[in-house]
Amino acid sequence: MAEKILVVDDDLDTLRLVGLMLERQGYRIMAASSGQQALSMIYSERPDLVLLDLMMPDMDGIEVARRLRSSPETEDILIIMFTAKSQIEDKLEGFDAGADDYLTKPTQPRELIAHVKAVLKRRGSRQAAPSREFHEQGKLVGILAAKGGVGVSTLAVNLGIVMHQETKRSVVVGDLRPGCGTIGLEVGVTNPLGLSKLLALSVDEITPQAIHRELFDHHSGVQFLFSSAQPLDARLVTSTDQLVAVARQITYLANFSILDLGGELTPAVEKIVQFCDRLVVVTEPVPQSVYQTRLLLDFLGGKDTTSRRVLVALVNRLRAGMQLSLGQVQDQLGRDVSVIFTAAPELAYQSQVSTTPMVLRQADGVTMQQFTTLAGRVIGKPG
Ligand SMILES: Nc1ncnc2c1ncn2[C@@H]1O[C@H](COP(=O)(O)OP(=O)(O)O)[C@@H](O)[C@H]1O
Ligand SMILES: [Mg+2]
Repeated sequence: MAEKILVVDDDLDTLRLVGLMLERQGYRIMAASSGQQALSMIYSERPDLVLLDLMMPDMDGIEVARRLRSSPETEDILIIMFTAKSQIEDKLEGFDAGADDYLTKPTQPRELIAHVKAVLKRRGSRQAAPSREFHEQGKLVGILAAKGGVGVSTLAVNLGIVMHQETKRSVVVGDLRPGCGTIGLEVGVTNPLGLSKLLALSVDEITPQAIHRELFDHHSGVQFLFSSAQPLDARLVTSTDQLVAVARQITYLANFSILDLGGELTPAVEKIVQFCDRLVVVTEPVPQSVYQTRLLLDFLGGKDTTSRRVLVALVNRLRAGMQLSLGQVQDQLGRDVSVIFTAAPELAYQSQVSTTPMVLRQADGVTMQQFTTLAGRVIGKPG
């Protein structure tokens, strides 16, 4: 879940600017303009992190920090002191009162963001430790389509984030598309090697620990295994045994592992779909695509059209009148569609430009609701 940050400052311009800056990073922001207000918000809202101004009229930041640290209910809340006081004595007093970090105003946005990320990440790795034990196997969810470009990667990323938010359990999203990776790009990581490094190993070397070393901690709380976007790495798609090993071993790293399996039934994907607990087949309301999807569904589900292991997500990417209706799609597929995503071209575009997944950019829109519906269907018990 996107972390909650409470910004406390008696200067309203600082509150607004810092709030906006952090909001753009995908955090959920609350603001308080006095020490008293900060304390009551901390009790009601339970933020993960407090960005705390030192000098405020009624109750100063040092006092707020002391009170947080002295109560078991609030002692774990992270505190970054953010103040114009730059003397070493001031900093020592801040740390003494329980600050996790200290930043001096004025600061560069990038510096502020880096401190926030670093502090949250240190806490994240402490908290996530128990679920990262390498013996309990989680559920495996494969996302795939009968062709490229219909929204598989977008769905994998956003579904992962919403599943983490809804269940508070650990989630890993793996991009299993060597040479065609886009998930790294979607979250602003331009040259991710993750999967390529693993595919260079022998099958025996592909352990949960080895995969764990390649995971990227995203601020949403989801961890990612990226594929490279280097076209030549596409040749690694023939490393079938390694890809299957990654899909099997990744399940030991999180409660839910979600795999972007792409739009082709390669030999590796053909094997991986056999052991996924859930499959989400993505399609679009266009005749040829629906036809291809039906062939894929026939392969995946055999004759059992009621199988709840296989879900169908219908993604409208265009707001066009000339598309098949839901009824037509379901007739032609011979089964029900589990969730419909309405066209959200502006949101999709903005999310790419800002490298912020759709559900973080717009946490209360219809796209979010649609992902919540899908998450519910994915988590639901098999029939
Ligand atoms: N609901 C939507 N509305 C509009 N555009 C979307 C929607 N979902 C995804 N897209 C866009 O469609 C394009 C293809 O999505 P992508 O997830 O990369 O597909 P795939 O992984 O199947 O190739 C991307 O540009 C993405 O931003
Ligand atoms: Mg893709």
